[in-house]
Amino acid sequence: IETALAEGPLTGRRVLVTSGPTHEPIDPVRYIANRSSGAQGTAIARALAVMGADVVFVTGPADAERPEGVHVVEVQTAAEMLQAVQAVLPVDAAVFAAAVADWRVASASDSKIKKDKGQIPSMEFAENPDILATVSQMTEGRPRLVVGFAAETDDVIANATAKRLRKGCDWIVANDVSPETGIMGGSENAVTLITEDGAESWPRMGKDEVAHQLAVRIAAALG
Ligand code: CTP
Ligand code: CA
Repeated sequence: IETALAEGPLTGRRVLVTSGPTHEPIDPVRYIANRSSGAQGTAIARALAVMGADVVFVTGPADAERPEGVHVVEVQTAAEMLQAVQAVLPVDAAVFAAAVADWRVASASDSKIKKDKGQIPSMEFAENPDILATVSQMTEGRPRLVVGFAAETDDVIANATAKRLRKGCDWIVANDVSPETGIMGGSENAVTLITEDGAESWPRMGKDEVAHQLAVRIAAALG
């Protein structure tokens, strides 16, 4: 049992946050992954803890510092992340900020693939489990509030709105990660919160401030 950082509007609430990339091994020295600093997920975990929540932070291998006052679970792959998430349930709310690899190498090699064999390797991929969709569609023990993310480069609001319905989550935090926005790897974010009531675009602000505003909304939703 973790001690929350402070008394606040989320005292007594248990909240799960996923964050960072996942690494899907090709062989013992190589992997495929998404770009993710883990900065936004880390900020969200910290903001929830500051408001009194009992936070479990399930993170892939990210550079970001691990937040204080939260229970940290480190994983590598999407399969491990799903397992860790299922072990953490039940929770009051779950925020899925991780950039999970959509595919893994179907049969990763136990030994290092050598290039002096003279052949360029070809790889078969298998689809990873969708952790957000799995939790959103639970018929028993579903968190009361499930929040997903949608990092998009085109038609951000349309894609994210469709994603919310497809996955079955309550909210989607959408953002435009086109390189020219400088959001990936930066300290700021410009998000649109998509709920059943529609799309609400927030001004560009620091990732810490986005996290705080989101935590305020989560507290209000949990009552
Ligand atoms: N997500 C997840 N498990 C996966 C893939 C995604 O939990 N295997 C979650 C992410 O953490 C995020 C949300 O689903 O909260 C949306 O991820 P995204 O990659 O934008 O959606 P996809 O459905 O994978 O669609 P695509 O990558 O094709 O845009
Ligand atoms: Ca994806």
